[in-house]
Amino acid sequence: MIKSNYILRYLYTLAKIFEMKTKITLATLILFSMSLSLFANKPNWGATGHRTVGEIADNHLSRKAKKAIDKLLDCHSLAFYSNFADEIKSDKAFDNYYTWHYVNFEFDTNYDPAKADKKGDLIQGLQTCIKILKDPLSSNEDKVFYLKMLIHFMGDLHQPLHVGRGEDKGGNDIKLKWFRESSNLHRVWDSDMIDSYKMSYYEMADNTDKLSKAQVQSIQKGGLLDWVYESQALAKTVYASVKNDDNLSYRYSYDYLATVRQQLQKGGIRLAKVLNDIFG
Ligand code: ADE
Ligand code: ZN
Ligand code: ZN
Repeated sequence: MIKSNYILRYLYTLAKIFEMKTKITLATLILFSMSLSLFANKPNWGATGHRTVGEIADNHLSRKAKKAIDKLLDCHSLAFYSNFADEIKSDKAFDNYYTWHYVNFEFDTNYDPAKADKKGDLIQGLQTCIKILKDPLSSNEDKVFYLKMLIHFMGDLHQPLHVGRGEDKGGNDIKLKWFRESSNLHRVWDSDMIDSYKMSYYEMADNTDKLSKAQVQSIQKGGLLDWVYESQALAKTVYASVKNDDNLSYRYSYDYLATVRQQLQKGGIRLAKVLNDIFG
């Protein structure tokens, strides 16, 4: 009797240990999957948008520019390197370029280089890229680096909120919901609308509005500053389109996805113009 009691207690203890282990394993699994989903939610901001701009530009390059770029990028596409400037953000060695992704200056005023961010901004960044690429004395290594940066920044220039207000970090501080998930105005325009559209960058580039030669030339008129003012004017409409804590969904894309698609197309066509000017 004593012996069987002992065996029962032994079995009970074993069962308890097993139950505890199962609980621990379960908790580990839950924690692990939660951290995985956290990483999955970590946005690769605007990857599809930037690739679309690169692909559209590729379709508008002169033969000579294409040849020179193929040599620098080892035959990789513009789309392939269009997110390079975002990827290097995780490396502290490239912190100097962080402010090159945007430019903030008072709406309806002229951009004043004297008042510009001392660390550099989107306009100064683009001008530097172009200068280095045009300079016959630049090293091949520098040309490759600044070409990759230029591809990205021409995309940023066409996201209206990269020419937004400094006080809300280009809409990053305007918190709202996208299909009931936490987001912010900047992110909606960087990626939420584009990602919800569920087209690949290739499909986006292949389904741009059909434009005449004259329409393409008209888009390519002017220069960096004209295009910056155009984006800033759009930013005003974007700010007026929401209230804090809005829950945006289908209706917002219905109203604004056409603008996003147009901006991506203009970005691509103008990137090609800048590259055709640099490479002849
Ligand atoms: N990202 C971080 N700060 C920003 C700003 N001030 N404007 C636009 N984009 C930003
Ligand atoms: Zn950027
Ligand atoms: Zn952005």
